[in-house]
Amino acid sequence: MNNRYRRLRKTPAVRRLVRETKLDPQDFIQPFFIVDGKNKLEPLESMPGINRYSVDLLLKEIESYVKLGGSCGLFFGVSAKKDLKGIHVSSDDGLISKAVRLIKKNFPNFVIITDVCLCAYLNHGHCGILAGNKIDNDTTLPVLSRMALAHARAGADFVAPSDMMDFRVGHIRETLDKNNFKDAGIISYAVKYASAFYGPFREAAQSAPDFGDRKSYQMDYGNIREAVKEAKQDIGEGADIIMVKPAIAYLDVIARLRQETNVPIAAFQVSGEYAMIKAAAQKKWIDEKKIVMESLTAMKRAGADIIFTYYAKDVLKWL
Ligand code: PBG
Ligand code: ZN
Repeated sequence: MNNRYRRLRKTPAVRRLVRETKLDPQDFIQPFFIVDGKNKLEPLESMPGINRYSVDLLLKEIESYVKLGGSCGLFFGVSAKKDLKGIHVSSDDGLISKAVRLIKKNFPNFVIITDVCLCAYLNHGHCGILAGNKIDNDTTLPVLSRMALAHARAGADFVAPSDMMDFRVGHIRETLDKNNFKDAGIISYAVKYASAFYGPFREAAQSAPDFGDRKSYQMDYGNIREAVKEAKQDIGEGADIIMVKPAIAYLDVIARLRQETNVPIAAFQVSGEYAMIKAAAQKKWIDEKKIVMESLTAMKRAGADIIFTYYAKDVLKWL
């Protein structure tokens, strides 16, 4: 039967009433970059508004985020100490461990998620240990597990492996369990595409590979059946939450995984997505706030429960 659908679009109040997908302040996770030292605030040229912080200033930034209602953060270490084995990833006075302990102490209810990957700690910038000029899956696993364990020991609520080695979720789960961190969760970057959208991040984290690319471990962007395999395998290995990354160009993947799995799904609006919106907004070619809200709503509509975004703090002001 034909109907007058415009009745439900009549006024803002009616539209709000029948809106299917709504953003909630609790949906968002703000990423933070941490550097060694004191009193450091390093602006990122390709990500205006986002800075690298030393731990002292990071605590201030978290405080202002918490005041706005922020309840959850993702932490990336930007390490000046780099080598071939990732010696520094698991030390208890390492960048992330120190930061996590202080965050927990100052903000006991803040949900702390740490990125677990070696690229910022290895001098070639790849996400795994090299054997010859190949990234070696199985020698990388114990290093990732040591890193995850150090983060859990410091008080991380979730570790988030972003390396894309096979079997790392199972390896990390087993390591955490054996060491009595059964309550530390795993958010797996289960479906992470080899993407040009990560460009600005690599400047931020100083983690660009100095030879080749990440295509032998990150996924081919032509594939979606592979996303289902990756997600199911990670869930089988113990992932509590799975992530799709990037977000805006992969909404079909989010929608597919929503149908094929039962775990919470996180979308990651990555650095390049942020940079594109910022750049156009600075030129006044688009309305920043409206573009951001529309993009984030699309991610939820596709099936994401949680959204990692550099806009999280702004969204809390806007909502
Ligand atoms: C490192 C890592 C990357 C991102 C998160 N963790 C970059 C990469 O794989 O090159 C991307 C985040 C972003 O672009 O915002 N493994
Ligand atoms: Zn990496």
